[in-house]
Amino acid sequence: MSIPSNPQAVAASVSPQSASIHDRLRTARRRESISDIRQPKILHPLENEGLRLLLLENISLDAVAAFRAQGFYVDHLTKALSEDELVERISQYHAIGIRSKTKITERVLKAASKLLVIGCFCIGTNQVDLPVAARAGIPVFNSPFSNSRSVAELVISELVALSRQLFERAYELRTGIWNKQSKGCWEVRGKTLGIVGYGHIGAQLSVLAEAFGMRVLFHDVVNIMPLGSARQVDSLDTLLSESDFVTLHVPELPETINMISKQQLALMKKGSYLINNARGKVVDIPALIEALQSKQLAGAAIDVFPSEPGSNGAPFDDQVNSWASVLRTLPNVILTPHIGGSTEEAQKMIGEEVSQALSRYLGYGSTIGAVNFPEVDLRAISAEQGGIIRVCHVHKNQPGVLKQVNEALSPYNVEKQYSDSKGEIAYLMADIADVSFKELPQLKGRISSTDANILTRFLS
Ligand SMILES: NC(=O)c1ccc[n+]([C@@H]2O[C@H](COP(=O)([O-])OP(=O)(O)OC[C@H]3O[C@@H](n4cnc5c(N)ncnc54)[C@H](O)[C@@H]3O)[C@@H](O)[C@H]2O)c1
Repeated sequence: MSIPSNPQAVAASVSPQSASIHDRLRTARRRESISDIRQPKILHPLENEGLRLLLLENISLDAVAAFRAQGFYVDHLTKALSEDELVERISQYHAIGIRSKTKITERVLKAASKLLVIGCFCIGTNQVDLPVAARAGIPVFNSPFSNSRSVAELVISELVALSRQLFERAYELRTGIWNKQSKGCWEVRGKTLGIVGYGHIGAQLSVLAEAFGMRVLFHDVVNIMPLGSARQVDSLDTLLSESDFVTLHVPELPETINMISKQQLALMKKGSYLINNARGKVVDIPALIEALQSKQLAGAAIDVFPSEPGSNGAPFDDQVNSWASVLRTLPNVILTPHIGGSTEEAQKMIGEEVSQALSRYLGYGSTIGAVNFPEVDLRAISAEQGGIIRVCHVHKNQPGVLKQVNEALSPYNVEKQYSDSKGEIAYLMADIADVSFKELPQLKGRISSTDANILTRFLS
């Protein structure tokens, strides 16, 4: 082994004992000044400079301001438009933002000759004819997870409200009855929470519940790294038999419909509680009613129902769900009108997330997060890289397309390229260097005239 001639110097270079970690970070920051960080280049569509956006259903004014700041023309309406109104107006717009009341049907899409993208400023996208939009080369974006925290917080409140019979006591006092009780009322500390579905909401909830002093178990169809001290159990049955509270956070799928029915309720601990803020069909409600009436369960909180009224003020009665009147009379049952994700914060996050997705698609071609489209993105072009053109080519997913497109691109240096497909639709993005503006119309014509072309845009 060779001994260094100056051991102190070696030690100093490996681990600078004299400087604290803060000193070292400060020095590193000074060395790497802001100007050293590579700034991404802001791209612009080459042919449709004056992009027009139509925002309906009172989408947040923050979103309007953000789009205007990027140079888009924005028409903002507080109401939804009917199909006929949309057919009449849509041909002027390159993008549309809607919530759940505006229906983008095949007829609307046929009239939308310039439309490039649709933003659903909400969770669901079934108000849009997604396959027809995809075939027209129009990606659709939404905001599925912006309200996860709101749901998780509601569940926390329901845990306490159920175990303290809070709604019963509050209802009695509102009707003029003083009924102070401690029998059957519990702290949640030390109790076991069983989370079914450890996704965006389930995982958030796990952290909040542990902070409350609860023991957390979860069941999921995939193996997931637990947060904190939560533990994944081997089966739904194990979770049901070990939990004091069971809360559901799975999507509605054929295999999750009625996943909590008579047999599962019988496996739950006597006197435990069930919470459903997921989807209405996940719980067999007549079986739940029996379990509550027989005192197998001590309470339940239900935010979602197999059928839900279409508008505020509409009745929630046996015409909507045949068992509604019985459910409404059961003690210690909290019924809420699908408000799990309904908070001001979630609305704001939806506005930000969907506006960013629209801007990223219009300006950079990225389809990450699109619900009906292959998800494709490319590394940013840095500000100092001149003369690069981004090609965005939506085409039918059929053999031979890439050969034709690559032949068209072959005179240039393809800096980077990525392509993916989803069903009938494929999407290619490529950054090409050393192409002059004079050559662009011809290049675009070559790519657009291939048989499979749906839409070709150039950004620079
Ligand atoms: N009440 C409301 O207002 C409200 C608001 C937002 C979301 N939701 C609903 O909450 C549910 C969960 O939302 P999320 O954002 O956490 O979804 P997510 O996709 O992030 O997570 C769902 C999890 O469920 C798991 N899963 C799927 N099938 C399963 C099965 N058979 N058994 C066990 N686990 C299974 C998945 O692997 C995933 O980890 C969805 O149904 C959503 O529609 C309701």
